[in-house]
Amino acid sequence: MLNFNNNLQEFLSRLKNVKNNNHYPNALLECISPKDLNQILDKLIFNKELHKQLQSLPVSNALHLPKEISKLSRTIAIARDPEGQYLCILETKSKNAKNEKCEIEELDGGFKSGKPAWRLDGLHGPTPYASLSVEIETKKRKGMNLTPLQQIEKLKKEIAYPWQVPENDFLLRSVQGPIYTNKKGIRFCIYSPLGIPLIDRKKYGLKLSQEDKNDIASQLLQGLCFMHELGDIHQDIKPGNVIIFIDENRKKHAKYIDFASICGREAFHRLLSTIGYESPEIALAHTNKKMPDYTDYVRAYKTEKTLAKKYADEIEKRFLEGNQKRELDALKKEYENPAFENDVWACGIMLYELYHQNFTPMTPPKEEFFKGMLNPKRNKRLTAKQALSLFNNTYCPQASKTFLPHFQSKMAQAQTKSLLTLVQEKVKDAYQTLHHWIDGARSLFTYATTENIQEKAEKPSSKVRKHRK
Ligand SMILES: Nc1ncnc2c1ncn2[C@@H]1O[C@H](COP(=O)(O)OP(=O)(O)OP(=O)(O)O)[C@@H](O)[C@H]1O
Ligand SMILES: [Mg+2]
Repeated sequence: MLNFNNNLQEFLSRLKNVKNNNHYPNALLECISPKDLNQILDKLIFNKELHKQLQSLPVSNALHLPKEISKLSRTIAIARDPEGQYLCILETKSKNAKNEKCEIEELDGGFKSGKPAWRLDGLHGPTPYASLSVEIETKKRKGMNLTPLQQIEKLKKEIAYPWQVPENDFLLRSVQGPIYTNKKGIRFCIYSPLGIPLIDRKKYGLKLSQEDKNDIASQLLQGLCFMHELGDIHQDIKPGNVIIFIDENRKKHAKYIDFASICGREAFHRLLSTIGYESPEIALAHTNKKMPDYTDYVRAYKTEKTLAKKYADEIEKRFLEGNQKRELDALKKEYENPAFENDVWACGIMLYELYHQNFTPMTPPKEEFFKGMLNPKRNKRLTAKQALSLFNNTYCPQASKTFLPHFQSKMAQAQTKSLLTLVQEKVKDAYQTLHHWIDGARSLFTYATTENIQEKAEKPSSKVRKHRK
């Protein structure tokens, strides 16, 4: 008889509970039949060989059980998070419970892509998870100037970040899944609790009341302060990198994802951003033809006008008219370094869009709060801390009282509402009217007028926009 470590014992008892309760979410039963599911649970619970393998599975590693090899009806993976906890992910892929081909919503980023999946051993039963993967590029398959090993190391670092800092409700922790080779090449899998990307909220019928928006804005500002206080710059803040979770009281909880570009402010780090969320300084730095990825940026620039670019053009013009080419070049050089102020700008744009029905500002915003976050002068721009305090104390007094009942992220993950159920319910409009925010606050975030806004496509083409490392 094997002497299992505590984590493995807990994992197996969670699975036994799931099996004994024999009560599965409908959305899960649409993906897999109860018979197939029970077969998988039986293998997980009773297979001694598998237990032996799990016992020796190092943390931040995962076991991949493709269905072709395991002879189970679905591919599963068992991962261990950096704290040693096990989790079993059932890939939903492209077959439904009747084993017929079906369409599953794609989760899509510039690098990673994937599908909703299920964590079978959730504390309160099977829980929806996001299963993403990255195709590791090889020399043959263009692009990357990193070796496959370097790419894997980079991904590991990205996943490790929120685990290495103190646990924080506003950064989403994901777990490394298996790294395996298939016909196409090497794949690196990543799992995290499934929520709704802020950018896709319309697609999923998620309506946000003013109170929800206030909660989300405050949480995102708190998350930003947290990273900045640690001396870290996210470098890719945008609605595609924020995931919304809904708890059992229908409160919304926003968390940052995608720590691929996070860094300190040291000059040796590369300056990154997604076009649309770049600060005027990033825009200005990229007018320098020697800047790496310059061509990508300019190409995207031709089709995309942004407030940052408008400001950058003005700065450049001012310097050139004053015959200060040398000073301008020095400034551009300085702006090539990652900076906290760039994150504040990106967060300002994201929050502006949140409060202005997805419109992006094309002229300087009028509201004090957005004016502060989107100040074209870097040294006058609010810091994350100032922005949070201005938001909570001055602009949203009601929010600071009702915000953030102590929220355990583990609980929230367990309670995460099934995305699929949410879509069916389409979150009732009536809910919105119950929680009106106070009139005074509303006037501060007046809706944008047509001359100072530019409508955003529902999903900006971030792929072209991102400057790759
Ligand atoms: N936990 C999650 N729940 C729901 N969707 C998710 C989750 N994690 C990631 N996604 C979706 O997958 C996309 C890709 O994830 P991520 O941002 O980490 O990858 P990326 O390819 O590096 O992104 P980018 O396009 O910013 O470079 C996200 O934009 C989001 O739409
Ligand atoms: Mg992303």
